[in-house]
Amino acid sequence: MNIIVTETKEQLSEQACSIFEAQVKADPESVLGLATGSTPLGTYEKLIEGYKKGNADYQRVKTLNLDEYVGLGPDHPESYRTFMEENLFGHLNIDAANTYIPDGTADDLEKECLRYEEVIEKVGPPDIQLLGIGENGHIGFNEPGSSFDTPTHIVELAASTREANARFFPSIEDVPKQAVTMGIRSILKSKRIVLIASGERKARAIERLLAGEIDEAFPASALKNHDDVTLIVDRNAYQFVDGKG
Ligand code: PGA
Repeated sequence: MNIIVTETKEQLSEQACSIFEAQVKADPESVLGLATGSTPLGTYEKLIEGYKKGNADYQRVKTLNLDEYVGLGPDHPESYRTFMEENLFGHLNIDAANTYIPDGTADDLEKECLRYEEVIEKVGPPDIQLLGIGENGHIGFNEPGSSFDTPTHIVELAASTREANARFFPSIEDVPKQAVTMGIRSILKSKRIVLIASGERKARAIERLLAGEIDEAFPASALKNHDDVTLIVDRNAYQFVDGKG
């Protein structure tokens, strides 16, 4: 695993942005794997700034998102489709038809999982996948205990994940209980993975990722089975690794 430690979150976002811009410049038809959450927001802001400066052209880029809440459609303010439109897609010259996110409102969710896995096969795999990490080590919505050998599937969200995401909803009862997520097997198909983590809140997860075993109890540890992972982490999230030298 390559590790880049930055002093600030802003620098982390700049680093992640320049990796994605370099990818798009090298291949204007790149497939980008994207994530939601607070951590990628800074990266998306930098990508938008870069686009305005003419750093990269997204006209022929395709994107595959990791996950979507069950029951929240594109018209819901907290759906991940809305998040991506507001925080990235709506600001780039990307073709909406080339942006793929699971449909959390599909009548038959099992079928939707199969369909999305076919989309990954057809469109992907991503040239680069951006990933955040949960405090409990989740990647996408693959919660602790998830098999490393799963494709896109429906998950019950961990109580801790619902609590962490409750800040975006009127109350915890409004946080969906399920999501459709790429499985760890799907995520590991990406050619390259960029994992970003910022702040003290993530410091234990980063310590465990770097010092711990590969273990389904800690989903992010599956990334050690991939041969091209770059971890970009700010000093606050790296503090327990740092402290040990
Ligand atoms: P965050 O979420 O970026 O909002 O901390 C990351 C995650 O839970 O995957």
